[in-house]
Amino acid sequence: MKVLTVFGTRPEAIKLYPVIHALRADARIESRVCITAQHREMLDQVLHFAGITPDHDLDLMQARQSLDELVARALIAVGRVLDTERPDWLVVQGDTSTAFAAALAAHHRKIPVCHVEAGLRSGDLHQPWPEEMNRRVIATFAALHCAPTEIAADNLLRESVDPARVHVTGNTVIDALLRTRARLLEARELAGTMRAMEDRFRGRRIIGVTAHRRENLGEMHAIAATLRQLARRPDVGIVFPVHRNPAVRDVMQAELAGLDNLALIEPLAYPEFVRLLDVAHLMLTDSGGVQEEAPALGTPVLVMRETTERPEAIAAGTARLVGTNCDKIVCETSRLLDDPETHAAMARAVNPYGDGKAAARIRDLLVSAPR
Ligand code: UD1
Ligand code: UDP
Repeated sequence: MKVLTVFGTRPEAIKLYPVIHALRADARIESRVCITAQHREMLDQVLHFAGITPDHDLDLMQARQSLDELVARALIAVGRVLDTERPDWLVVQGDTSTAFAAALAAHHRKIPVCHVEAGLRSGDLHQPWPEEMNRRVIATFAALHCAPTEIAADNLLRESVDPARVHVTGNTVIDALLRTRARLLEARELAGTMRAMEDRFRGRRIIGVTAHRRENLGEMHAIAATLRQLARRPDVGIVFPVHRNPAVRDVMQAELAGLDNLALIEPLAYPEFVRLLDVAHLMLTDSGGVQEEAPALGTPVLVMRETTERPEAIAAGTARLVGTNCDKIVCETSRLLDDPETHAAMARAVNPYGDGKAAARIRDLLVSAPR
């Protein structure tokens, strides 16, 4: 059986590499990999760490690419790969433009689609945007829905997806996280840049920051102003690996460069970022994946969004929605820094997103599921 896995961005690579490892270790399966390279450097970082050499590299990234152009070029280019490879299954992950375009190209050819991380819903088409639309559309024709949690599976059932095609597998991000943490214990040098960060901020509490969401791009000045204010505290060290999107970088570099206790750094390699998650007193983020990883490590997360499609971490008490309002973020961050009880209440390691065995379950489903 031939399985073609298509992805294009950093988080897809992190969440699919455990699946690709499971597929390629199975003698029943011929595993092929195609990257759209919707992301370039940030994707290559993960491929390097994961030891994956794609069979097809469509090299589609363009600076400040528009959604129309990206989706159109990915649809045509992935379609050509599908015509060459004729796989029995197409595997896509999540809700990026790559996942949407690749799934649509497969549907055009009646190739069954396996959707990894199926069923996440915010209930608002504009948050996250355009991802909520992408994942809803993929769900309308996927043949196999690998839901990370019961809540995600229920979302699909409410949309009348055939229950026989919906399976709760756990989220593969936990597979990646647990393996990477184990590798970090064996090889401390994998923590790379984070070792220098820990030296620089020794004796201070580390706050890890990421920000990149399209619907937050208009808020980057507000987020930068908030970080400037937090950086006035002498007892914190802020580590901010900046996404490569120029709409994020230009603002952050103009407004935050040169502060004493804020390190504006390049995107971290995955094991370096896992180390940041592990040592941070708290994470301030609008990322999806970080909302899943930080709770598993018992690191409190303040989510710079108005809504989330990941209610499990909120319910578990390790994540809290704070939006992008400066006063609100400063207030919630200060509470976590100044009130040990508030911090202790949030810093409980829980694993609502999986047990680290999702990739093997997905491989088994691909072998056994009707197409
Ligand atoms: C994309 C996904 C989003 C995901 C995010 C993960 C869509 C619509 N969005 O958003 O769901 O959460 O990735 O980070 O699919 N760039 C580089 N080098 C890189 C990566 C990006 O220079 O390695 C720059 C380019 O100028 C590019 C821009 O960032 O045009 C935006 O990248 P794009 O993939 O369109 O959107 P993201 O905001 O990264
Ligand atoms: N990540 C990373 N290096 C960084 C920042 C994040 O490896 O400098 C990882 C992080 O551990 C998570 C994923 O990238 O698994 C999240 O990616 P991103 O926030 O870009 O996308 P999202 O999850 O919001 O789709």
